[in-house]
Amino acid sequence: MTNHPHLFSPFRVGPLTLPNRFVMAPMTRGRAGADAVPTEAMARYYGLRADAGLLITEATAISPGGSGWLGAPGVYSEAQVGAWRKVTEAVHRKDGRIFLQLWHMGRVSHPDFLGGGLPVGPSAIAAKGDANTPRGKRSYVTPHPLTVAEIRAIVDDYATAAKNARAAGFDGVELHAANGYLIDQFLRDGANRRTDDYGGSPTKRARFLLEVTQAVAAAWSADRVGVRLSPTGNFNDMQDSDPSATFHHATRELDRLGLAYLHVTEPLPGHMMHVPLPPVAPAMRQAFHGPFVLNGGYDAAKADAAIAAGDADLIAFGVPFLANPDLVARYRTGAELNAPDFATLYTPGEKGYLDYPVLAAAKG
Ligand SMILES: Cc1cc2nc3c(=O)[nH]c(=O)nc-3n(C[C@H](O)[C@H](O)[C@H](O)COP(=O)(O)O)c2cc1C
Repeated sequence: MTNHPHLFSPFRVGPLTLPNRFVMAPMTRGRAGADAVPTEAMARYYGLRADAGLLITEATAISPGGSGWLGAPGVYSEAQVGAWRKVTEAVHRKDGRIFLQLWHMGRVSHPDFLGGGLPVGPSAIAAKGDANTPRGKRSYVTPHPLTVAEIRAIVDDYATAAKNARAAGFDGVELHAANGYLIDQFLRDGANRRTDDYGGSPTKRARFLLEVTQAVAAAWSADRVGVRLSPTGNFNDMQDSDPSATFHHATRELDRLGLAYLHVTEPLPGHMMHVPLPPVAPAMRQAFHGPFVLNGGYDAAKADAAIAAGDADLIAFGVPFLANPDLVARYRTGAELNAPDFATLYTPGEKGYLDYPVLAAAKG
């Protein structure tokens, strides 16, 4: 026994008591069916991981216009909501808790997903790189810069998506404000050159994030809403001239809202997604007084050390959970981990999805 909090100590998030500090990080897996409807396989996949303190689903489109990833699910149609209900039931049957990650891809969608229409963004700045469309790789295009009326309509779409998530039986929602998707595109000045109330200073660039967060909190309850940020990440061609100022401001404002948690992904040195910039997460931890989740390159020892040091309350594990449905049991017993198969991260079908072995003692 230790007096410090550790990976296996319980923790309260809003109205929920998590039995441990393991969060399953959101991970796109590309296994949804036609019309972005979740499948039975997805219910099994999440159900297998229900002993995590909290599961966060793969990023899920809030609207057809926010979509742009092959096999990613949505949460804007009745069929999708009905199918998500089977996922939440599978997790709740095993006494788990699950949040839905709400996603609008913004400029990194592609006309192939949008009936030929342009993707949208804060400014007419194309990301460098390629979208993976049904016709293969296609360069990102210059997005249509959103008008204020169009921004308001997207804020409403987020609120509707949160209501749909609630109707589908989720325990809460996480706003995907990380990794270069629409909200992050507004936050960082590499993608946002607006000169109206939504661009310019850190305050103005955070406006869209805060409007979405407040709308979603009003549609459900602030303590059912988490926010994910990636202050130094460069995925999807993102950059910012002053990450510390941008994310310190956003964090201080989010802190006022009484959210379920703040989730910061800032991969540790040595991680494939690590960016050699001064870390911003420690200052965000100081500025945010609610539950704080860290992610990026953690194993059991690093997670325990971060929790004991007070750097985080909860640790989100991505790839380790993908390859080990029974990650909690494996870390508890010190068992070896399955190696991830990177070839099947996003491929359709059950291979690399439902066939990772679980320990004999954890079966059933
Ligand atoms: C296959 C895969 C899919 C991912 N999809 C998402 C996603 O949908 N939303 C998100 O916020 N992050 C996504 N990520 C990032 C992970 O949540 C996480 O930040 C990353 O894997 C680093 O954590 P780890 O070292 O514990 O794996 C994805 C990562 C992987 C490997």
